[in-house]
Amino acid sequence: MNAIVKVNCLKHFYPDKTKVHLCGLEFLVNPSDRVVVLGPNGSGKTTLISHILGLLKAVDGTVEVMGMDPYKNFEKIRKNIGVVFQNVDEQIIGPTVYDDIAFTMRNDKVDKGEIDKRVKEIASLLKIEDILNKVPHYLSGGQKKKVALAGAIVNSPKILVMDEPFDSLDVTSKSDILSLLNKINKEFGITLIITTHDLNIVSEVADKIYLISDGKIISGEGPKELLSNIELFEKVGLEAPLLSKLFNKLRKKGIDVEIPVDIKDAEEQLLKIIN
Ligand SMILES: Nc1ncnc2c1ncn2[C@@H]1O[C@H](COP(=O)(O)OP(=O)(O)O)[C@@H](O)[C@H]1O
Ligand SMILES: [Mg+2]
Repeated sequence: MNAIVKVNCLKHFYPDKTKVHLCGLEFLVNPSDRVVVLGPNGSGKTTLISHILGLLKAVDGTVEVMGMDPYKNFEKIRKNIGVVFQNVDEQIIGPTVYDDIAFTMRNDKVDKGEIDKRVKEIASLLKIEDILNKVPHYLSGGQKKKVALAGAIVNSPKILVMDEPFDSLDVTSKSDILSLLNKINKEFGITLIITTHDLNIVSEVADKIYLISDGKIISGEGPKELLSNIELFEKVGLEAPLLSKLFNKLRKKGIDVEIPVDIKDAEEQLLKIIN
């Protein structure tokens, strides 16, 4: 299968001379994959996705999206990538939720009836029909994320990029967004690229996790393999999930368990031992 996104040994200089150099493993995303970019603050996650979006120009290395350099083919690529930035307040610009979701389609002179149909379809999918006439400014953090998400996917992109989508969301909004992302991926085959520093969500939304540390992409495995590598997290400064820590302790005491990928896995293993 041909990768839809490919990044190799990306080097970037910010205007103040800060250097970001992401070498190590090649960053490869296959169509319809759910890929999480995991790393502590300042590790280069936003820099990486800014290059994938064609917003920044690399000094060195390869950045390819759908076989093209996204910086040189900005317009073409952006039609195929939806994005939700970390700070949605900078992204939501419509005076009402409806206007915001319709924004790009109006710019592209899409027919009014067609716009209305698509806005309502996407609003129904994301369960935000009841806030279409609201002023975005007054919405909650979780609602704003959903509005930005609606705007990002209303034109049926091939790829959806989200920068730290779970940051500062409460538990309910977080699990809402998680299940919406999985739904979008499953029903429309949209490729997901999600950055986070929260290890607890990876088992719910990742087929593959790229771990960034010290300017290197050091791991690109599935949740099961990644979560069992507790020493790795400690080394890179990320907090291991509680379950991983607990089961690691049990293993050290000689109990025959594996580091679980999620609560259900943990429950099944424990029940097996108890019975
Ligand atoms: N606009 C900028 N100007 C200068 N340095 C920046 C800028 N944006 C990010 N950096 C620096 O680049 C490095 C990577 O940052 P970033 O990609 O934002 O990491 P992350 O998203 O993982 O927190 C950090 O050292 C950060 O301070
Ligand atoms: Mg960031």
